[in-house]
Amino acid sequence: MASKHDVVRGRKRPKVVSLFTGCGGSDAGLIDANYEIVFANDLSPYAKDLYLANLPNTEYRCEDIATIKSFPVADLLVGCYPCQGFSQGGARISGRKVNYLYRQFDRALRQIKPRAFVVENVSGMQRSDFIHLLNNQIIRFRMAGYSVDYRILNAANYGVPQQRRRIFIVGIRSDLEFQYSFPAPTHTGESSAKFATVKDALQGLPTWPSGEFLEQKFHWYYMSRNRRCEWAEPSKTIVSNARHMPLHPISPRLHKIGPDKWDWATDGEPRRFSYREAARLQGFRHDWKFPDTGAIREKYKAIGNAVPPPLFMHIGESLNGLW
Ligand SMILES: C[S@@+](CC[C@H](N)C(=O)[O-])C[C@H]1O[C@@H](n2cnc3c(N)ncnc32)[C@H](O)[C@@H]1O
Repeated sequence: MASKHDVVRGRKRPKVVSLFTGCGGSDAGLIDANYEIVFANDLSPYAKDLYLANLPNTEYRCEDIATIKSFPVADLLVGCYPCQGFSQGGARISGRKVNYLYRQFDRALRQIKPRAFVVENVSGMQRSDFIHLLNNQIIRFRMAGYSVDYRILNAANYGVPQQRRRIFIVGIRSDLEFQYSFPAPTHTGESSAKFATVKDALQGLPTWPSGEFLEQKFHWYYMSRNRRCEWAEPSKTIVSNARHMPLHPISPRLHKIGPDKWDWATDGEPRRFSYREAARLQGFRHDWKFPDTGAIREKYKAIGNAVPPPLFMHIGESLNGLW
């Protein structure tokens, strides 16, 4: 069978600068769509180790973006600035400094002037208390000379075995007059285009992978919602906080016993997804390696922060007419 690289062979590989790169979910997807990552940056040492163990051909600078004065030339700029301030798991305070890292992205955009850029972030950015920040990003990017569009995409609609809704902002340099369209869903959940499932993703993995999942009590906040899905469904959203990781389907079922209160409905021992299972549910390659330089929480964090590679591959392919 032809590989992804065969399909696009013969076309020049567009160059990418990747910011807020993490462990490389977005970059892995772009590499599958035949892009070349020429520069990556993040301040997390473990994210860098994880990235380079799997994608060794990238120049990866591990430092605060504010210290990087100049960026290489690129066709595409991508960046998924942190989202603690906007996310369900975060404190949701719109004044937090972390919510303004888009200004660093904007600085790189004005310096590089790529043909296009892509940003991914949590859908909470559209909430009424954050919409001013989203609008400010869009105004800045338009003033930098880009025609900008945004949309919420669900990873499950692109073959990822996970329900994960995120906002994608795409900008095309205005002088190029390229009409951008977001990629059409490949999986709708209908019988002819079924979602990928937890069962498909976890095939071949042990049921109790000792040392690879967080063994900690399920506190009241964990039990405030149903964190379990069935084998035949896509998983619930993989998050970066290990404590909030959804349940593996071997866990007992849950039933609602009050407002924001759930309890075990059947017998058995519950457990969270392991970090390796979480990586599969994010759509990472099955042989994705985890170096031993980080603690279990860092492994969960880097994977939970990532953009699912198959979704970003579709985004990369949706820009093909530009190169
Ligand atoms: C949402 S994650 C990005 C995930 C990545 N796109 C992926 O697909 O794997 C955001 C990243 O921003 C990084 N970050 C936060 N503040 C930063 C800063 N000041 N400079 C550089 N990186 C930063 C975090 O360490 C985190 O890895």
